[in-house]
Amino acid sequence: MKIQIPKGTFDILPYGAPEEWQLSCLWQYAEKVIRETAADYGYREIRTPIYERTELFQRGVGETTDIVMKEMFTFEDRSKRSLSLRPEGTASVARAFVEHNLSQLGSTHKFFYIGPMFRYERPQSGRYRQHHQFGVEAYGVSGPQQDAEVIDLLLQVYKRLGLKNLKVHVNSVGDLESRKDYRAALLHYLKPHFHELSADSQARFEKNPLRILDSKDPHDKEIVQAAPSILNHLTPEAKEHFQTLCSLLDQIGISYEVDDKIVRGLDYYQKTVFEVMTEDLGAQNTIGAGGRYDGLIGQFEGPDLPAIGFATGLERVLQVMMAQKIMTPKGKRPLIYFIPIGEEAVQKCFALVAACRHNHIAADIELQAKKVPAAIQNGLRAEAKYCCILGSDELQSGKAKLKDLSTREEKPILLDQIIQALRGLC
Ligand code: HAM
Repeated sequence: MKIQIPKGTFDILPYGAPEEWQLSCLWQYAEKVIRETAADYGYREIRTPIYERTELFQRGVGETTDIVMKEMFTFEDRSKRSLSLRPEGTASVARAFVEHNLSQLGSTHKFFYIGPMFRYERPQSGRYRQHHQFGVEAYGVSGPQQDAEVIDLLLQVYKRLGLKNLKVHVNSVGDLESRKDYRAALLHYLKPHFHELSADSQARFEKNPLRILDSKDPHDKEIVQAAPSILNHLTPEAKEHFQTLCSLLDQIGISYEVDDKIVRGLDYYQKTVFEVMTEDLGAQNTIGAGGRYDGLIGQFEGPDLPAIGFATGLERVLQVMMAQKIMTPKGKRPLIYFIPIGEEAVQKCFALVAACRHNHIAADIELQAKKVPAAIQNGLRAEAKYCCILGSDELQSGKAKLKDLSTREEKPILLDQIIQALRGLC
């Protein structure tokens, strides 16, 4: 029996994929744009392991969140330590920051990462068990300018990738004091509905009632519709933070909607939270999301630094690009495809193809096909621009023909000057 790929994961193929968005060159293009944009905003790449001690996510993401309660891939290593594949990147970056004492190297820090994340979810379009995130984390600035910067960076990435019709939703979940006040108001409102709530929400009633606002249960959703708004329970400081953020976003021309139902599925958020939505994805319509989490680094026994970040799911971003028919440049393809005829020509072509490659000219060679038409087909499939057929005549005269594979035009070329000639065609 053939071994198949695990459920909820997929291969990113260079060609032949049933859906175009699986093409690896589209991924490379998106990652290139992301890296350039992150650099324009002063963010530097950090890479952390794809698994961590389970405790990191329990403490970081929150024990009552769906991600930790239901979705982690957790296993024991041979020494019986509990490890989990990372479901997200924020906790790992905070752990690495504290572990390497990076706070000693300055008062502000800006990181980005691109990599796979793992959540045991019910797979459907836009929701996978392995997905990839581009995320950023900015430490050290408590003011709302930092919040506006990360939102602007996220939208700039989308803009440079050509995405259209996105909606930005922002909210404040307040600081710890606002939350205490709001918690009381929310419990007061939810109490008469307690028996109608889903089992999950009942379990969260005492432990973490804010999570109930994030419930996916349809009846819970109806109940929370009329719940009090967190925005009416912000402390003066949290309120000012949110108002300044909104005016900064206005100033840099970002349109957004204030949405007091956003609480996010992770426990670490405080003050600003935000989500970017698209109408081109169906149910999984959030392509990027994030927020401020001022307490997390301190919780990992690091310095008490303010922090904010976001992550965007690359599969969802690429799916929107596909849905919106955004054309992207192709990767590097061979400029020349050598087709040798006979053993002597194979030797000569092998030296020529190596010389091209050593000179940064993408080149390939036919080593298998016995007939010229089949070799040309292979050159076309490799998307080479030119082919060069070399037989005994060409070897003797030192002259060959460069054939443009799309126009079929031919031009003469001197074999001992081939690198200079090809450079002129790059
Ligand atoms: P999150 O909202 O859980 O936030 O995930 C961020 C993004 O990852 C989502 O908006 C979505 O695009 C994508 N995503 C999440 N789960 C899946 C999945 N199963 N399949 C496909 N895409 C998915 C976080 O992870 C936070 N760490 C973001 C953050 C960084 N907050 C502060 N800093």
